[in-house]
This record gives sequence, structure tokens and C-alpha cells, in this order.
Amino acid sequence: MLIFTNNLNKTPKILVTGAAGFIGSHTMVELQQAGYQVIGLDNFENSSIHVADQISSITGTPITIENIDIRNKKALIAFVQQHKDIHAVIHFAAYKAVGESVQFPTKYYENNVGGTANLLDAMAVNDINSIVFSSSCTVYGEANPPVDETTPVQIATSPYGNTKQICEELLRDQNRANGLNVISLRYFNPVGAHDSALIGELPLGIPNNLVPFITQTAIGKRKQLTVFGNDYPTPDGTCIRDYIHVVDLAKAHLKALEYQLAGKNQLGFDVFNLGTGKGSSVLEVVAAFEKVSGQHLNMVFGPRRAGDVVQVYAACDKANKALGWKTERNLENCMQTAWAWEQALAKMENK
Ligand code: NAD
Ligand code: UFG
Repeated sequence: MLIFTNNLNKTPKILVTGAAGFIGSHTMVELQQAGYQVIGLDNFENSSIHVADQISSITGTPITIENIDIRNKKALIAFVQQHKDIHAVIHFAAYKAVGESVQFPTKYYENNVGGTANLLDAMAVNDINSIVFSSSCTVYGEANPPVDETTPVQIATSPYGNTKQICEELLRDQNRANGLNVISLRYFNPVGAHDSALIGELPLGIPNNLVPFITQTAIGKRKQLTVFGNDYPTPDGTCIRDYIHVVDLAKAHLKALEYQLAGKNQLGFDVFNLGTGKGSSVLEVVAAFEKVSGQHLNMVFGPRRAGDVVQVYAACDKANKALGWKTERNLENCMQTAWAWEQALAKMENK
């Protein structure tokens, strides 16, 4: 078995794909603040080129996020070759809209699976043998919560979900083939924004996700929030999810990386759930938002949304124990920072 060893004479250099995105940008901040050298790449299809400046404003250290598309294998290999001393990769770059993936499956397989295969080849050519991968709790489908990592992976209900499962299999095969050291992190529902309100989620068009829809409704961009179903078998009739603050999530990536760099990922391929362990209903999320923002939210009940699972929340004991990580923020902090970010965005847009 190949164990990743860090050259202790150097500060590790980390390549982050999808570095300008929601979770990538927050992870870039944590990496820089922890003293890592970081190089980012993104094609800015779902993010802004200004994110690098915002990250630098937070950390006080200049950074570059280069415009590279991971579907362009030649350009990707050339880019990785330019940066010879990369120790490890954190791979966020992907499409993530479940509904769109149902409409345009090939787009999702090409980017999420094809892009990951290109990245693995670029890593192999350059002897980079450590990767942290962004997976999702969607791999568990409708399971009895709390969901731990021994819960069987279910047949995916969307092409997006399937790309995450296929990528996990691809990474497992690459581990078998050449000893690639892999940690796949299965996120529950990432929300919130950085305390500085300089970076956050940037949904394109009408948001699909609950929290950006709430903040956009409160700021006046949307007329009202429609709660998708209030007849579920839950205490208040609305669906339950595990909402994790994006900064807590970003910090988990550092812990996973440190675990790998210290040679502790002895299995070579491992998966960890990242959530809070606590489920919150849609109505609880709305109540938390109203409490911290002082806003009354325009809200109506509508029919159930196709494909929604009733309730899912994580058992995170594995990440707590092995990675020495646990969440530090609660739902109110998620809503407060998401609201501050929405207000900051509105100010930027009005300039
Ligand atoms: P995001 O869209 O904000 O960030 C992804 C970034 O990757 C964007 O900046 C986008 O421009 C970039 N990108 C996409 N395709 C690319 C390509 N071909 N080449 C280069 N860059 C490309 O999404 P996010 O919420 O930060 O999600 C990051 C990762 O986490 C994704 O893999 C996503 O599937 C996964 N994930 C997200 C959630 C969630 O709810 N946000 C949940 C589970 C898993
Ligand atoms: N919801 C509403 N109204 C809205 C939007 C959402 O009531 O306008 C409800 C949904 O029905 C669901 C809950 O809010 O009950 C959360 O919905 P999200 O769309 O915010 O999140 P999901 O749990 O459906 O899915 C998210 C991401 C997926 C990812 C998954 C697990 O969208 O990409 O979390 O990580 F795979």
C-alpha cells in the first residue's frame, strides 16, 4: 500500500479545482489562513472572476485562480505541469443542479465524470497522489436517519447524483490501480457565508435551494417562498435536512487533507459524512431566518417537489473521531451569515 508522505521541509502546495465557487472559495480562505500554498483553477461558469480578490481581501495574501476548464485535458495537464510541486488536490469543480442534470444528462457526465477522469490523468502524469473529493449525501437516497457511512449507496435518482457515485467508483478504481490516496467527503446541505460577507453562494438565475431562495425573497428579488409540501410524515409536515455552515465544511477539508498528508488514510480510499448530525425542517429554517434577520418572510405552501426525500441527516461520528473535526456553528449563524451576504450582494449590485 502506498502511503502519502509529506516533504516536511516545504509548506505543502495544494491545487483547488472550482476554487471560485461557493465551497471552493471558503476552502481557499481556510487553506491560506492555515499557511498552505494554494493554486486555484476555475472556468468561472458558475462563479465570478472577482472571487480571487475577495479571498485576498479576507486573508491579506494575494492568490491566483486561473481560468482552466477541466474538460480541456491538454490545458489541464499543461497547467499542472507548470506547478511541479503540488502535493495534493481538492476537487470541487462540477455542475450541481439536480433538475438541470435530468434535462441534460450528457452535460453532467461530461463535466463531472469526464472532468474528474482528466484531472486524475493530469495528477498521474505529475505524480500527485492525494485527492479530496466533493461528494454528496444524495448517494444514500431515502435512508433511515441518522445516516452513517455504512448505509448502503442507493440507485441514484438523478444524473447529478449518479455522477457523484460514478466518481467515487472511479476514484476507488484509481486507488486500486496506482495507489491514489482518496478521501471522499459526502456533504449534507451546505449553507451560510463567510463572516466577512465578502464571499458566499452565487446562484445563477432562480435558486433551486432553500436558503438562497429565502434570502432572495427577503431582499425583494423573489415574490414569495413556496414551501414544497407540508403533508410529510414529520413533526411540522415539512421536509427535514441537515444544514451545515460552509465555513465548518471548509474546515473539514483542511482536516481531511492533514489526515492524508500525515499518512493516516491507511485504507487509501475512504468516505466521510459531513453534516451537523441535526435535522431541521423547512419551517424551522424559515423561523431561524426570521429570528436573526427581523424580517417577516412572504411564504406559501405548495405541492411536494418531485424527488425530495422526506428526511435526511448525518451521523458524523466517523469524521469527528478520525479527522478530529466537528461543526462549530448553528442554524441561526447559518441564516445570519447568509442574510449578511445577500445584503452585501445587493449593495454591490446597486453600485
Ligand atoms: P459551485 O457551482 O459554487 O462551485 C463549483 C465551481 O466549479 C464553480 O466556480 C464553477 O465555475 C466551477 N466549474 C464547474 N465546471 C468546471 C470546469 N469544467 N472546469 C473548471 N471549473 C468548473 O458549487 P459548490 O456548491 O461550491 O459545490 C462544489 C462541489 O461540491 C461540487 O462538486 C458539488 O457537486 C459538490 N456538492 C455541493 C453541494 C451543495 O449543495 N452546494 C452538496 C453536495 C456536494
Ligand atoms: N425547499 C422548499 N422551497 C424551495 C426550495 C427548497 O420548500 O424553494 C425545500 C425542499 O423541498 C427541501 C428543502 O427545502 O425539502 C431543502 O431543499 P434544497 O433544494 O435546498 O436541498 P436538497 O436537500 O434538495 O438538495 C441539496 C442540493 C443537492 C445536494 C443535496 C445533498 O441541492 O445538490 O443537497 O447535499 F445533492
